[in-house]
Amino acid sequence: MAHSQANSFSSLSLSPLFRASDSEAEAGVPQERRRRWLDRWQSSEFDDLSMNLTPRGRKPVRRRKARNIEVSEFRVPIAGLGRELAGLRIVHLTDIHHGLYFSAEAVLAAVELANSLEPDVVALTGDYVSYSRNFAHSVAELLGGLKAARGVYAVLGNHDFRVGADLITRALRRNHIEVLRNRHTVLRAGSAELHLAGVDDLWYNASLPRALRNIPRARPVVLLSHNPRIVAAASHYSVNLVLSGHTHGGQVRLPFLERRRDPTHRRFHTGWDGWGLTRIYISRGIGTIVLPVRLGCPPEMPVFTLGAKPAPL
Ligand SMILES: [Fe+2]
Repeated sequence: MAHSQANSFSSLSLSPLFRASDSEAEAGVPQERRRRWLDRWQSSEFDDLSMNLTPRGRKPVRRRKARNIEVSEFRVPIAGLGRELAGLRIVHLTDIHHGLYFSAEAVLAAVELANSLEPDVVALTGDYVSYSRNFAHSVAELLGGLKAARGVYAVLGNHDFRVGADLITRALRRNHIEVLRNRHTVLRAGSAELHLAGVDDLWYNASLPRALRNIPRARPVVLLSHNPRIVAAASHYSVNLVLSGHTHGGQVRLPFLERRRDPTHRRFHTGWDGWGLTRIYISRGIGTIVLPVRLGCPPEMPVFTLGAKPAPL
């Protein structure tokens, strides 16, 4: 799955654009290259392009709240998706952070809300726990109650790696959740196919080449990645849609601080964005980190209904 406009995935890992806020990664980045990327990032031309590439229906077609979690529904056309898979509903949960500040009852409420949305697929994009191994089994058991006609799929987040990637992977798999660790699966209906891929967290063991290996060119791909900064690499591989979390939408958003934010930090932070032909949705997620507080940034459970669209020639 080649894309002529981007470098290889391995070179992307050095991209200053996507590591602009990762101080440990900034060391060694040539200043001139960094400046060029930031110029492009901040240019109005680039912003206009990205806006044009977000789905027409980027405003949710329906909004409602349940148990304080905002459910946002989106229709997303996927190039190359056959009609038999049109209408596929993906319910997306991320950043649950089960622990002292996010109880089993709260996780159960999120599971019940997800089930009430009657998903075909549930996509879990990591950070099931925060700091303690003690919550790994309970969160996996609770998530085992998720019901989706075509399965529940998961990737791991940075907190899962810190706590124990193998432990959490085993716990999820014991509860019939398919963990996509740098690999993909194929959903089929008649002659239609959707490749559902997942990568490990970008700060740990992510490998898009492994996750997308053997997917024929121009086949529709939805990628689960905890960290949204995978998006340029995903575009290189012609991924149609990326579902991410990690940012918590900022978690605490004070209007006067938001106005002072550097524009570069508004990209790939919350909601819809895009890179090349790849669209990405970054959910605010369910739980919290550090403090059990959200201000101006409610928890979220997005729902994506995929639409059929002819593949580009
Ligand atoms: Fe998180």
